[in-house]
Amino acid sequence: MKTLLAATLLFVGMNLWAEPVSTLSPDGQIAVGFDVLDGRPTYNVTYKGRQVIAPSRLGIDLDLGPDLIDGFEIVKTSTVSFDQTWQPVWGENKNIRNHYNELLVEMRQPSTNRLMNLRFRVYDDGMGFRYEFPEQGPGFVYFVIKQEKSEFAMTGDHTAWWIAGDYDTQEYNYTESRLSQIRSLLPGSIDGNVSQTPFSPTGVQTSLQLKTDDGVYINLHEAALVDYSAMHLNLNDSTMVFESWLTPDAQGNAVHMQAPAVTPWRTAIITDDACRTLASNLILNLNEPCAYGDTSWIKPVKYIGVWWEMITGKSQWSYTADVPSIKLETIDYTKVKPHGQHGATTENVRRYIDFAAKHGFDQVLVEGWNIGWEDWIGKSKDKVFDFVTPYPDFDLDGLNEYARSKGVRLMMHHETSGSIRNYERHMEKAYAFMEKYGYNAVKSGYVGNMIPRGEHHYGQWMNDHYLHAVKEAAKHRIMVNAHEATRPTGLCRTYPNLIGNESARGTEYEANAGLNVNHTTILPFTRLQGGPMDFTPGIFEMDMSKLNPGNTAVVRSTIPRQLALYVTMYSPLQMAADLPEHYEQHMDAFQFIKDVAVDWDESRYLEAEPGRYIVVARKAKGSDDWFVGCTSGEQGHKSTLSLDFLEPGRKYKATIYADAPDADYRTNPKAYTISTKKVTSKTRLRMAAAPGGGYAIAITPLDI
Ligand code: NOJ
Ligand code: CA
Repeated sequence: MKTLLAATLLFVGMNLWAEPVSTLSPDGQIAVGFDVLDGRPTYNVTYKGRQVIAPSRLGIDLDLGPDLIDGFEIVKTSTVSFDQTWQPVWGENKNIRNHYNELLVEMRQPSTNRLMNLRFRVYDDGMGFRYEFPEQGPGFVYFVIKQEKSEFAMTGDHTAWWIAGDYDTQEYNYTESRLSQIRSLLPGSIDGNVSQTPFSPTGVQTSLQLKTDDGVYINLHEAALVDYSAMHLNLNDSTMVFESWLTPDAQGNAVHMQAPAVTPWRTAIITDDACRTLASNLILNLNEPCAYGDTSWIKPVKYIGVWWEMITGKSQWSYTADVPSIKLETIDYTKVKPHGQHGATTENVRRYIDFAAKHGFDQVLVEGWNIGWEDWIGKSKDKVFDFVTPYPDFDLDGLNEYARSKGVRLMMHHETSGSIRNYERHMEKAYAFMEKYGYNAVKSGYVGNMIPRGEHHYGQWMNDHYLHAVKEAAKHRIMVNAHEATRPTGLCRTYPNLIGNESARGTEYEANAGLNVNHTTILPFTRLQGGPMDFTPGIFEMDMSKLNPGNTAVVRSTIPRQLALYVTMYSPLQMAADLPEHYEQHMDAFQFIKDVAVDWDESRYLEAEPGRYIVVARKAKGSDDWFVGCTSGEQGHKSTLSLDFLEPGRKYKATIYADAPDADYRTNPKAYTISTKKVTSKTRLRMAAAPGGGYAIAITPLDI
């Protein structure tokens, strides 16, 4: 990570007496005010003169009192300005500007003599704050946070796009409603095969997208979730005040701290333009710079995989049905009878490798290659996988060699089935094994309840594990894509080998419980604010019974929308999730998936409204090619697109993949048209996306 411009750190001022203080964003449009009222730290936020966060209290409830909630006085306040442009290893843009004004409030609690600071950073598109506990001698070193009491007071009954509060999964459809409706809608919002129970009748997860009636978009989330537990929000629906609610540990506490220490940043992205919300880099900017010296081994990846066939029930992860009464660790797999539906067979994997090589994919994910899948889910079993022993019908050496000979790599899969003790015990051996065979990316998974029992997916203990796995992987030059892990908070800036996460309902739900049609118009506002998602788009066969006669699910999308998702769902890791034989039926549309870039110099959000539509144009990294994607909700979407992002005076060819006039995700999802057109920066394109549809455009210069 190089610094383009020298960082400018400008000391602006210092205040030594207690009175309200405020700090403006660089453009002066956002103001954060702070005061200690009746001994309680209190902040508020205005945007263009309107209040967006009304006076809201801050404090920390400790397991052993006295709490860090009241009785504070300001010792000192100071402000600095910061302006730096940095280059991510991969990203939506080549350059990212980190420009803010900072307010540091140093406080003391005279009754205990404890020190607690609040640091605010105010950007043109929002603000963040965190608590800091400076080193303060032996009187205050180790402490346990029972609950964090950070308020976010909304100024009205805003519209919200939310998912239910939950300590263990984010794999929900979003509900769009007024804040006042959350209490009545929350029970019904937990659908499909998600079995968790929300902790509160008004508890929701972040990142939470809100919109006021006068058109202000507010996004509440957190940045740099390190050594702390993930934050949820409980709404007081009489006052419209959200309060933080941290994921508890097995003993009912939230966080174990040792001063000096800081909390994650609590963030509010605030704009009056949905495109600006999507373009915000606030959460990345609130994370630390890259922790690695050499990042040359971190590369964006386009992949296919032996995966959708298991998700749809066409084949199985497991090798045999012949087990439950036997202890897996004692099975001799060469002696049991295979059930004949194993997906990860040598022959089948070779077929995928051939397809990947023929069409230019980097990697082939293979799930179900290793022993243990007979016993992996729902049993709270500790020792299921060893991450190194293949099933007898998976020729580990031969397949890696075959892939290498064709210029393709296999992608590793580590399902931990929630047993962290088991995974950490095998981790070093498993990563070294990957290095030996030439794997440089792992998809890891955390399905099921945690072992140690009582810990939650989003607690401090697990958050420490996920980061540990990423850092250990880096020592082996391995990239990590963790499913079921905590939702991202921009840590990929610091640890860019974290190239993907799931942490939301992805395409796999199309093969069972279903995705709401507007899902992909919401995720970029919410889940993607913290980092990329392994959404696994690219489904061309919408009727699951064609893969598995017993599966009645139908994918709720047109084919052009499946193409557009490679552009609208930003990720440096993109899967073409469908089966090779389905792509072979639509090679003309498949061309877009082959061509689309996975890393970008520049991104321009052109049109957006949560729950309705998103249109974005991106310029491929180190190239003059542009790709445009649109995803629409139930109503479809019509655009008149100005191509003014193209270089003036240059001629380009646009290949347009669009919904046919009679396309509709319900009745005619495969009806698409492909046309080409000469375009310039002056061209305006009239485009129409069907209900549940979209469009994708590849634009390439004609003069090279
Ligand atoms: C859930 C993951 O999201 C899915 O992609 C994976 O195939 C299964 N777990 C098995 O690990
Ligand atoms: Ca999952």
